[in-house]
Amino acid sequence: MNVIHNLILIGFMGTGKTTVGRECAAMLKWLFVDLDQKIEANLGDNIDQIFKLQGEQYFRDQESLVLREFVDRSHQVISTGGGIVLRPENRDLLQAKRQQGNKVVWLTARTDIIWDRVKDNSERPLLNCPDPISEIIRLTTKRKNLYQEVADLVIDTSERSVNEIVNELVGFIQR
Ligand code: S3P
Repeated sequence: MNVIHNLILIGFMGTGKTTVGRECAAMLKWLFVDLDQKIEANLGDNIDQIFKLQGEQYFRDQESLVLREFVDRSHQVISTGGGIVLRPENRDLLQAKRQQGNKVVWLTARTDIIWDRVKDNSERPLLNCPDPISEIIRLTTKRKNLYQEVADLVIDTSERSVNEIVNELVGFIQR
């Protein structure tokens, strides 16, 4: 069996990274790390406010910092923010870490499912717009190739239970 250091979950908002990641970490007896939560803890504010007060680029700087900090550790399931793949430096880092025993898994879901999962949560600044469904389509289309570029595996979470996805992920890590 290959030694895997971290499982890194990427994918758009509402694809299940946090829910699946937490369960998966519990099953593997690894640490669960949510990079958005790390940013919030570092700055003492929530993502929505950080976007409002400091702007998206500042948030992206913080996102790159926490990614860099945590991928150097081991035995973690890392849930990333949906925009982690936007910066080439983050993609380069993910590629480098894949060469060093980390697995990157891209979670996807249909637009209607994504909307259903995020619609009651107002803390996603990029979807606080007049037509969030069109925005989901626009952003997922724009980012698709970026997720694909760094992924070892893709799992569509639309019609599957958390348990099923966790079992697939644990099997993938332990094969
Ligand atoms: C973002 C996704 C969010 C959060 C921020 C920006 C994005 O994370 O990082 O609102 O650009 O897609 P989740 O994917 O965990 O919701």
